[in-house]
Amino acid sequence: MILAIETSCDDTCAAVVEADGRRALSNAVHTQTEHSRYGGVVPEVASRAHLERLDGVIERALSDAGVALEEIERVAVTVRPGLIGALLVGVAAAKGLAYSRRLPLVPVNHLEGHVAAAYLEDPDLEPPFVALVASGGHTALYAVGEDRTMHLLGETLDDAAGEALDKGARMLGLGFPGGPAISRAAEGGDPHRYEFPVALKERDSLDFSFSGLKTSLLYKIRELGPERVRKELAHLAAGYEAAVVEALSRKLLRAAELQRAGAVVVAGGVAANGRLRRRLREECSERGIGLVVPPPALCTDNAAMIGAAAAHTPEIPWPEYLSLNARSV
Ligand code: KG4
Ligand code: ZN
Repeated sequence: MILAIETSCDDTCAAVVEADGRRALSNAVHTQTEHSRYGGVVPEVASRAHLERLDGVIERALSDAGVALEEIERVAVTVRPGLIGALLVGVAAAKGLAYSRRLPLVPVNHLEGHVAAAYLEDPDLEPPFVALVASGGHTALYAVGEDRTMHLLGETLDDAAGEALDKGARMLGLGFPGGPAISRAAEGGDPHRYEFPVALKERDSLDFSFSGLKTSLLYKIRELGPERVRKELAHLAAGYEAAVVEALSRKLLRAAELQRAGAVVVAGGVAANGRLRRRLREECSERGIGLVVPPPALCTDNAAMIGAAAAHTPEIPWPEYLSLNARSV
């Protein structure tokens, strides 16, 4: 059994995952609410909140799983990329736990973790496949090889998809995180009333760009003025959300075509988006491509995905990991 810890951003997470990385016995998450009034994550606030919460979240992960600490065989932790102070809280806790019990430690890459959520969702899934990771900090397409190595096919040249949603939501006076806020505001809205640019339509580039989209929302808001923005909010949110979904879907499907992939995986916080999930379900079934999208709780940051990735990540034996460091990139 693996105990996994994830503290790379603003979610304090711990989970117990079976050794083969195919089943989570628990998945405890404490989402920090301290950041909502700042409209974005404040790194120092995040580190301190992790410090206060992590012990309790680990205890909850163990008790939800009905597993005693003595039954844990390996400790896994996110070591990169993320907010350095936030990562260090998780890494220090993982080292302490593993060291005191003489267990090996498994250092996990957060993005590999997002993709590994798919192995929990579909216990029969095996690479090769194409994966889209779309989160608040990253938007990238990977070809995942038979040995699970990830080859970058394309990535965002500016903002991440989640970041574009977060910034768009802020411009529209909606809450944080912006992704779910925009989806709620878009309910009943007409996505065609305001057309937003879908960047990089060139067929063969697999890179993304969301800065033009953001700018066009800003101009639209200025043009309409506050009163009409309020009246037209659902349409504006729907159009903006649709443009992000369109860019992500189109590039993912193009990557699948170029790689002749039989299956695609969508992961990261933005994969929790309902419009994106519906769109890809339709497109993939039309093309006969397998689609694995984990449930929303496994898309946004969580530790079960870190445990799933750890099952196929080399471990560091006790006590060699004491000098292990976290990295922001
Ligand atoms: O993966 P994640 O939880 O944290 C990072 O590693 O960044 O992703 C967070 C991002 C935020 O930008 C948030 O707005 C977005 O995922 N997000 C969503 C939804 N839930 C979270 N975007 C669209 N629709 C959602 N339902
Ligand atoms: Zn993430």
